[in-house]
Amino acid sequence: MTKANQPPLEKLLELARQAAEHSYSPYSKFRVGAALRLASGEIVTGTNVENASLGLTICAERAALVRAVTQFGPKIRIAAVAVANLNGLPSPPCGACRQMLAEFASPEAPIAFPSARGIKTMTFNQLLPVGFEFKLK
Ligand code: THU
Repeated sequence: MTKANQPPLEKLLELARQAAEHSYSPYSKFRVGAALRLASGEIVTGTNVENASLGLTICAERAALVRAVTQFGPKIRIAAVAVANLNGLPSPPCGACRQMLAEFASPEAPIAFPSARGIKTMTFNQLLPVGFEFKLK
């Protein structure tokens, strides 16, 4: 366990696990939860919500993100993220979730998730070193 994984992230991981209890995942049966700690100190959770179309499924991380913006507005900043699943499997955030979360997170913000070797903590910069940016000149 790395230093970045000490209490604040440990609590965030527990909240992510709790959110995963609400997962709607009848197709994959993969129950995922995410918890975001905002710079304001607020914590927002999300879980994956699947759909019969499969492609319309929303991941736990993006569910948490849209909830955070809805609740606290477009100026939120993400200070830390935890991802958990109830299947005992690795679940690093998918590419779409990395891109969506990175929009609101500083490059140094930590994100903890289950890896093949237990909980792994990385920074957003490590997770998405060259994300898409849209800045017109
Ligand atoms: N899933 C997430 O919740 N987060 C991810 O980053 C990747 C995948 C969900 C979507 C789907 O309900 C299930 O995991 C299997 O792909």
